Amino acid sequence: MTDPDIRKGLAGVVVDTTAISKVNPETNSLLYRGYPVQELAATQPFEAVAYLLWNGELPDAAQLASFRETERAHRALADNVKAAIDLIPLDAHPMDEVRTAVSVIGASDTAAGSSVLDTASPEENLTRSIRLFAALPAIVAYGQRRRRGQELIAPRDDLDYSANFLWMTFGEEPDAVVVDAFNRSMILYAEHSFNASTFTARVITSTLSDLYSAVVGAVGALKGPLHGGANEAVLHIFDEIGEASNVVSWLDAALAEKRKIMGFGHRVYKSGDSRVPTMKAALDTLVDHYDRPDVAALYDALESEFVARKGIYPNLDYPSGPAYNLIGFDTLTFTPLFVAARVTGWTAHVIEQAGANALIRPLSAYVGPEERHVQG
Ligand code: SDX
Repeated sequence: MTDPDIRKGLAGVVVDTTAISKVNPETNSLLYRGYPVQELAATQPFEAVAYLLWNGELPDAAQLASFRETERAHRALADNVKAAIDLIPLDAHPMDEVRTAVSVIGASDTAAGSSVLDTASPEENLTRSIRLFAALPAIVAYGQRRRRGQELIAPRDDLDYSANFLWMTFGEEPDAVVVDAFNRSMILYAEHSFNASTFTARVITSTLSDLYSAVVGAVGALKGPLHGGANEAVLHIFDEIGEASNVVSWLDAALAEKRKIMGFGHRVYKSGDSRVPTMKAALDTLVDHYDRPDVAALYDALESEFVARKGIYPNLDYPSGPAYNLIGFDTLTFTPLFVAARVTGWTAHVIEQAGANALIRPLSAYVGPEERHVQG
């Protein structure tokens, strides 16, 4: 094997097909089962998009009503999951809580067995996917509340997914503007073909391991700041800079230290992330709603300065970080929010990969010592 054959990071390598989403850097577009994500974000509740990712079609009114009934029936934080979360130190990273909670849910589903194929039909894995989708908001909301010394809030059956998520987190009747912006963010975060965490889930599934193990692995991959952890890192950068007038000097120093500026750049999109305009519009509604022109000024100043200097464009994490901050989520809660959205895409890919039944096992080029033998 020679160097030209080696594609570090699998950059640009097509490893399989998928029918779930199409990321097209040439047209800077993203389709979920053929629908432009911008249209879905502007017209659909997140529940309908989750249904689309799993089933391949948008639900009709009766199908959505039935799906909502199932989702609402599985929202409450199970006692054993809460007990497991309560054992985790308050200063642990919330992604460790989420990873642990998913693991406890999986371990408790003893019918899951050890394989996606032996014991789990696509229908059984779909049921498990919906239950994880329904359970994650309470896990994420409780994580933030316990770190603030606040009590768990029970879900409300009269609220849809996004409004209930906000209710369980903040304990206040959520404003329609905020619900809409949050709903859009969840749809935009839901799915993105073979990103690192989704591919991790597919690799785990390809060995015929179980759906929960695949999601736990995906949570681990998403935690990294080069991937899902970037939305949290964007707020740390905003906190460092403080205000728009500091951007130039801050960027001078950061680039001199060869720092990666979180929220910018993308492995696939090289002329801008197709999701950013929709999430930026949602951020703009929140800036107006909370009367925070300072956030818009800092956002615009950093974007224009960095793009001018490096020609590297914002990704979805750049607008979503300040949006979640304005809504009131703790910075450490941002990547768990990404999990709550992406669990739909992850599990859709688990079901697709399980059907492919093809072990993922690439090659490596050995560069260690030539063969040698123990002396004496
Ligand atoms: C997500 O894959 C997906 O679909 C992911 C995602 C999804 O929905 O699942 O879209 C979600 O993970 C978005 C990305 C979030 N990560 C960040 O915002 C972290 C900051 N971004 C960079 O680390 C970087 O842009 C990556 C990792 C996202 C992509 O990097 P690539 O494609 O591997 O490109 P690269 O790292 O080789 O960069 C090429 C050049 C390098 O300069 P040189 O070493 O060649 O001189 O551009 C530079 C990089 O240093 N560069 C950056 C930069 N991004 C690239 N320099 C400073 N800041 C950055 N953000």
